[in-house]
Amino acid sequence: MKSRWILAGLLTFAACSFGFALAGGGLNFDFLTDADRAVMQKRFAKEVWPLMVRGGKEGCVGCHNGKIVSALKLSGNMEKDFRMMIKDGFFIPNDAGSLLTRIQSTNRKQKMPPPGRGDPWTKAEMKVLHAFVVDLEKKQQKKRK
Ligand code: HEC
Repeated sequence: MKSRWILAGLLTFAACSFGFALAGGGLNFDFLTDADRAVMQKRFAKEVWPLMVRGGKEGCVGCHNGKIVSALKLSGNMEKDFRMMIKDGFFIPNDAGSLLTRIQSTNRKQKMPPPGRGDPWTKAEMKVLHAFVVDLEKKQQKKRK
């Protein structure tokens, strides 16, 4: 009888770890040097974060508050959210689940913010994020080699 409970416990543990790995928790996409991360965080705070918090509940940070079903869970703490997004790969160029891809998408089901919710980003704002992603990727490559 007892061994059955142990087996059930092990299975539950295995299932949880698997789910965690799928959610991106097992992978780390942060290949920045500490110096580069500090530089990019400063830039993120100035150029990208203000665009993400505006609009309150209809903004990226306001809606992605952990209460909706999305892999992107933002706390509202700039530093913490920046590190999480780098680590979990939300700035990877051309990735279907990345911020840039979702904001630039022309597919109504993919577009962020969702059509009718909050203000869509202007071309100029998308360019700001695009330039940020490109420069971040250059710094990432540097360390990977
Ligand atoms: C009103 C709510 C709302 C707003 C505002 C919103 N999102 Fe989302 N977002 C969602 C929901 C719900 C999903 C999950 C469903 C889906 O994949 O479309 C999602 C999915 C995503 C994903 C894919 C991550 C995943 O779940 O796989 C990214 C990236 C994303 N949003 C980024 C943004 C960014 C950047 C903004 C601001 C420009 C934003 N979202 C604004 C509701 C919102």
